[in-house]
Amino acid sequence: MTSKDTIVTALRAIADPSGGGDIITTERAGGIVVKDDGGVGLVLLVDGLAKDDAERLHAAVDLAVRRVPGVTAARIILTAERGAAPAIRTGPVPGIRTIVAVASGKGGVGKSTVAVNLAVALARRGLAVGLLDADIYGPSVPTLLGLTARAQLDNNRLVPATAFGIKALSMGMMTDPGKAIIWRGPMAASAMTQMVDSGDWGLLDVLVVDLPPGTGDIQLTLAQKIKPTGAVIVSTPQDLALIDARRAVAMFAEVGVPILGLVENMSSFVCPSCGVATDIFGHGGAQDAAAAAGIAFLGAVPLDMALRLASDAGVPPAVGDGPQATAFAALAEHVATGLGL
Ligand SMILES: Nc1ncnc2c1ncn2[C@@H]1O[C@H](COP(=O)(O)OP(=O)(O)O)[C@@H](O)[C@H]1O
Ligand SMILES: [Mg+2]
Repeated sequence: MTSKDTIVTALRAIADPSGGGDIITTERAGGIVVKDDGGVGLVLLVDGLAKDDAERLHAAVDLAVRRVPGVTAARIILTAERGAAPAIRTGPVPGIRTIVAVASGKGGVGKSTVAVNLAVALARRGLAVGLLDADIYGPSVPTLLGLTARAQLDNNRLVPATAFGIKALSMGMMTDPGKAIIWRGPMAASAMTQMVDSGDWGLLDVLVVDLPPGTGDIQLTLAQKIKPTGAVIVSTPQDLALIDARRAVAMFAEVGVPILGLVENMSSFVCPSCGVATDIFGHGGAQDAAAAAGIAFLGAVPLDMALRLASDAGVPPAVGDGPQATAFAALAEHVATGLGL
């Protein structure tokens, strides 16, 4: 298997364009990560270099890394001056391979619960996962992950909290609990894109974004700015929620974001005392709606008291090995496939 040392050796053959020796010695190249699948990530500091030199260096590093036997992919993050204002992003974010937006037509359907557990289940698959809580109306990720600390700044970058193997940033880590912020659409969108761009995420395979509920201007602007690779829509089996879910499908179609599929949450009710599942709202509504809309059905999560209790206690059920963990693992498998991970 490729080791970090072989990458370092390969990079030692490249001279720093501004002198002082090779790029390892001058610390232009650093933060080298070698994954089990042969993917290599590293950070290349390009401050003080002319644009041409930076581009040539980037190409040389890319080639050198890819030439190392066993390397399947190279991801190089270019950083300019430390603490510089983040550049306006027009394409995918360097270092973040894919972004998945979790959306719902209305609130209270368990969107945040699904987003958090999907993130944890993706991490259990060995992926590097970030979670951005973009629900400006009701940021619930700190509660769901049991996080109490405020977000810290390091070199002008927001440092995500780490919990259950994922990195998380939430508006709820920025404000005083219980204090409402009133957001206008553009302000909310730029705050969120800044959290994506200048969050200290490191290398991520996937960033899961918990969007605010609904399909209004804020959601539309966020979807346009964040440019997700794909979207997951959460719905309950009730017909009303499904109508709202159809609006969410239409919204993503409008901004050209592919829909990975629909998740039915609070599907059947699992009795806490006898364990028997009952379809209170009828079963299969979301599956039918997904089929009618021509989108994939990603799975069902039962309405389960244990899930609610664990969520309120800040322990995502996806970490365990109960039936909910199995449901979220299956969801994560579909999503990972949909994202090409
Ligand atoms: N499958 C489920 N079984 C039991 N309770 C659930 C389930 N999904 C969500 N909940 C609970 O429902 C409430 C709303 O969920 P939440 O994820 O905050 O919804 P949203 O983000 O859509 O507003 C929370 O108290 C959560 O614990
Ligand atoms: Mg929520």
